[in-house]
Amino acid sequence: MRRSGEDEAAPTGDPWAECFEAAVPLALRAGQMIRKALVEEKCFLTKTSAADLVTETDRLVEDFIVSELRRQFPSHRFIAEEAAAAPGAKCVLTHSPTWIIDPIDGTCNFVHGFPAVAVSIGFAVHQELEFGVIYHCTEERLYTGRRGRGAFCNGQRLCVSGETDLSKALVLTEIGPKRDPATLRVFLSNLERLLLAKAHGVRVIGSSTLALCHLASGAADAYYQFGLHCWDLAAATVIIREAGGVVIDTSGGPLDLMARRVVAAGTREMAMLVAQFLQVISYGRDDGK
Ligand code: IPD
Repeated sequence: MRRSGEDEAAPTGDPWAECFEAAVPLALRAGQMIRKALVEEKCFLTKTSAADLVTETDRLVEDFIVSELRRQFPSHRFIAEEAAAAPGAKCVLTHSPTWIIDPIDGTCNFVHGFPAVAVSIGFAVHQELEFGVIYHCTEERLYTGRRGRGAFCNGQRLCVSGETDLSKALVLTEIGPKRDPATLRVFLSNLERLLLAKAHGVRVIGSSTLALCHLASGAADAYYQFGLHCWDLAAATVIIREAGGVVIDTSGGPLDLMARRVVAAGTREMAMLVAQFLQVISYGRDDGK
């Protein structure tokens, strides 16, 4: 089975090729760690809410990925989910080469043994996303996207759907961690608006990164969410853009990676349509600005 981004034509003149080539085997090895732990007994703690979970495996996988990358690229910066959750930790995207890592996206799925679980490694330089590597470890699907070089899943080029009509669309979303009544009312009213607009369906799979990979594959037409983080979005954004899709802010403006909200779609028309239906749920920003 072809499963590595390395199967694609060798890139020429990519200053970040070495970084991409380092990320791919790390994502695969992290995926092995997660697959092994998936069938074992798991303990979890909660973070910002009762639905925001962390396990020992999240921390082990993050330490593994970050320490390997730090050894290879000592001057680079890191934004990683579990380190960012530490009290006083800062989550700032500077102009320096920065790795943006989610060791297990779909931690709640992981805790329950539900198989939508992924490792996500994004890389940005001068605040521009250069590449993304996402490994859907239970399905052994490796998604990669490199700026200007296309997006692939197990060596197959990815292409988004060209759908522009919401009444023919399959839409993906995620609930986000807040569960207070006011937030849930807006979440449900957003769902209701899309269903009343006759979207074919709305799916929630419990992993933002994998939902975004389905969008990049053309298996869904749009995605929106309030409450996700930059590490849920960084790698997937490159993959979607390189598959021909658009990733924007829920206001319809340009994506703000730190704003904890997003609309993505195969076409700009679809993204703008979905954005028009959404009422905002405020989550603050990853960088605390
Ligand atoms: C979460 C999942 C979830 C989404 C949250 C994410 P985690 O990531 O992707 O589906 O609703 O917004 O933070 O905590 O499993 O890495």
